[in-house]
Amino acid sequence: MAESAADKLFDYPYRRLAKLLAGIEPGMSPILTHVGEPQGQPPGFVSEIVLENADLWSKYPDPRGTPDYRAAVADWIHRRYALPDGTIDPATQITTACGTREALFQAGVLAAAIKRPDLPAGEKPYIGLPNPAYHVYYGAALMGEAEPLPVPAAEAETNYLPDYPSLPPEILDRMAVAYLCTPSNPTGGVADLQTLVRNLEAARRHGYILALDECYSEIFNGETPPAGGFDAAQALGGSMDNLLVFNSLSKRSSAPGLRCGFVAGDAGLIEKIVMVRGYGGAQIPEPLMAAGAALWRDEVHVVKNRALYSGLFDIADGIFGDVPGYVRPAGGFFLWLPVADSERAAQRLWAEAGVKVLPGKLMSRPTDAEGRTPGDGFIRIALVHEPDAVRDALTRVKQVLQNELGRDAGAAEA
Ligand SMILES: Cc1ncc(COP(=O)(O)O)c(C=O)c1O
Repeated sequence: MAESAADKLFDYPYRRLAKLLAGIEPGMSPILTHVGEPQGQPPGFVSEIVLENADLWSKYPDPRGTPDYRAAVADWIHRRYALPDGTIDPATQITTACGTREALFQAGVLAAAIKRPDLPAGEKPYIGLPNPAYHVYYGAALMGEAEPLPVPAAEAETNYLPDYPSLPPEILDRMAVAYLCTPSNPTGGVADLQTLVRNLEAARRHGYILALDECYSEIFNGETPPAGGFDAAQALGGSMDNLLVFNSLSKRSSAPGLRCGFVAGDAGLIEKIVMVRGYGGAQIPEPLMAAGAALWRDEVHVVKNRALYSGLFDIADGIFGDVPGYVRPAGGFFLWLPVADSERAAQRLWAEAGVKVLPGKLMSRPTDAEGRTPGDGFIRIALVHEPDAVRDALTRVKQVLQNELGRDAGAAEA
């Protein structure tokens, strides 16, 4: 029997990690750094607003989001990217998403459906994604019956990002959507304005969608916020054509449980996403949307959050600063730490130190017949705990891995 799209879907990285570590007992009290789940709390006003709006539990939420929520998002976008008033119309260029995950998935499936009629019969559209990547992009590619096109993004040489515009034009002509995550999970790479402009130009030239996953946009190093899709659109004259930007309160406000996000950009595409979500999208309950709107309007907690993450990266610098190839990520909250063998490192760290990390291999896809991936030489560590727990975890990592750490550790051993 022919293989269906569902058969091609592979286990999500966390399921593969559970299999890799099955039967191994943690050697010390566990510290879980494999999941990118902020352990801080959102501001107290969130619970108060949810309670104040309890009468709204009896309402089916509007799939597009309340006008107030969309206005709060539009105001935030204008402030954050210093856009001229009225650049983004909350009525037509913004829709809600229950976090970015479901919208990223839906947009990929939709993009494949939009592109397919432009291609010769039997030719599948490509869905461009970084290698390594957040795996929801693969889910969209496979369930949308498109061809995933993983583009190398693991190393400093590529600035830890995929370089789509440099792909051959005939490949770009088949592209339905290119996912670009900046700041990137897992590598911490951040696209500069010029890179974003090149990507948007390529998307327009070749008729595909640029899907910018910006859910880590507010967690960055230093004083200057990373550029985003809206900056690129402004630099190119203001049109939002071919652009979709995804963001949420999950990382920015340490509120992944609130499931409050948005998609914004090209009005024609937003209309199609609204249509799809009207059939199969989860809606954000209105009491939660009210709290979400207040979070988008508040920057105080975001500034505090960023300072906390910066302190965690200072701890990492102190511990790994002498490791060859160690790079303090430009954004996001993951360490992308070079090791000799990512799966062996994860097993040893769990067995000997009780630290659970995600092997880069599990976030990547093979690029050769031997099954090697660009993530084989890295582990991902989420810096999401209190400083003492982070210091403890990273110290254990350093002690256990010792001469398996660093860019050339594998080569030295071979
Ligand atoms: C790169 C990336 N995109 C999207 C998401 C989804 O986050 P949410 O659905 O909470 O917005 C995550 C969550 O870990 C992520 O790492």
